[in-house]
Amino acid sequence: MPATVIVGAQWGDEGKGKIVDLLAQHSDVVCRYQGGPNAGHTIVRDGETFKLHHVPSGVLYEGKVCVVGPGCVVDPELLVRELDELEARGISTADLRVSGNAHVIMPWHVAIDSASERRLGQLQIGTTRRGIGPAYADKSARIGIRVQDMLDPKILRQKFETALAEKNEILVRVYRAAPLAVEDLAERVETLAARLRPYVADTSLLVDHALNEGRRVLLEGAQGTLLDLDHGTYPFVTSSNPTAGAAATGTGIGPTRIDTVVGVAKAYVTRVGEGPFPTEIQGADHARVRELGAEYGTTTGRERRCGWLDLVALRFAVRVNGLTSLAMTKLDVLSAFPELPVCVRYRLPDGNETSEFPAHQSDFHHARPVYESLPGWEESLDDLGDLGDLPAAARRYVAFVEDALGVEVCMVGTGPDRERILTSRGLAAVAGSA
Ligand code: IMP
Repeated sequence: MPATVIVGAQWGDEGKGKIVDLLAQHSDVVCRYQGGPNAGHTIVRDGETFKLHHVPSGVLYEGKVCVVGPGCVVDPELLVRELDELEARGISTADLRVSGNAHVIMPWHVAIDSASERRLGQLQIGTTRRGIGPAYADKSARIGIRVQDMLDPKILRQKFETALAEKNEILVRVYRAAPLAVEDLAERVETLAARLRPYVADTSLLVDHALNEGRRVLLEGAQGTLLDLDHGTYPFVTSSNPTAGAAATGTGIGPTRIDTVVGVAKAYVTRVGEGPFPTEIQGADHARVRELGAEYGTTTGRERRCGWLDLVALRFAVRVNGLTSLAMTKLDVLSAFPELPVCVRYRLPDGNETSEFPAHQSDFHHARPVYESLPGWEESLDDLGDLGDLPAAARRYVAFVEDALGVEVCMVGTGPDRERILTSRGLAAVAGSA
């Protein structure tokens, strides 16, 4: 049974958590393949809200194996807090497995992330300050500490002390920040390591076995396509690869094991952090979209910047991820607007127009959106049964996107609750199981 990838098709926060949560019902294993606690999934179940950062959304279903893959970075303090909170609310975490090859975010990564942003001043990236960039940098420099190092207290202490001695030099000399205290931190990390030990596993093998046994595997990306380190709007990106190609390496399986890639996109666009954003809404509609869509970051609480739907950027997401279908979330937020601008092309500084995402960052920075205006529906999307029940103008909006991208919209979200999703052919089919 081949695996299915769920990937953010915009700048993150597309509502992947809800889609993964829904498809997890028809899956046996859910594996996160990159990112760390910079991600935040909000899932509303029976009116109860769960905010997850590390743990895949599938944890809310009993008996689903949830995996934090080798492509992820793990903050032990935050992961343990998340596990404790889930357990306290009656959700078992017994079926969670964390790859021994995932890298650990240490306190110095968090301190350096903040210090580096402060130092960049106006040029800052607007990171989540969770230590993501510094942890991935150490991984690439081959000086990182991995989850498997936490299995052996002696190795852990040695690696911890060596790394901290160097990082304290950097904190003090480069950033003029306070050094971190070795002894207190080492003890804390040792306590956390002991707590996480039972969850550590060879997750590549686990997923391989699951696929061989015909079990259904969902591979869940965090962030989104335009935050991808290689393909996103560099340098305003995260330090890993959310795009679907990384699902194989970030899980530890071959790309031939994947046959379905579902992109998730809002019916409009949001972005947090700095960086260019051609369709960012100007004027009163901006606050309206933000309020109606409750556009505040799950991880940082920051206000999200809001924009009209950008089909140039989405076409790029279809290309670099090889999307086989698209889940469109939060269509209900647009019910308030009589007209809906949709960006179909960019106008470049030389006066030319393009429907392809610019390869050169200067072109993207100066791109101006060319809109087509579609009629709004201005009616509630409550109590609809399936996609065919959408008001005519909403159906037209969805069809316009499908035509422009050449990809089917397989799901449409019409509200925060997990029931508020319309599908074209049933969730099991979308999850790749039918
Ligand atoms: P970092 O991943 O914390 O290093 O942040 C780098 C960029 O990615 C910043 O613009 C963040 O706002 C953005 N970012 C990271 N994680 C998320 C996410 O889950 N949703 C939306 N933006 C994110």
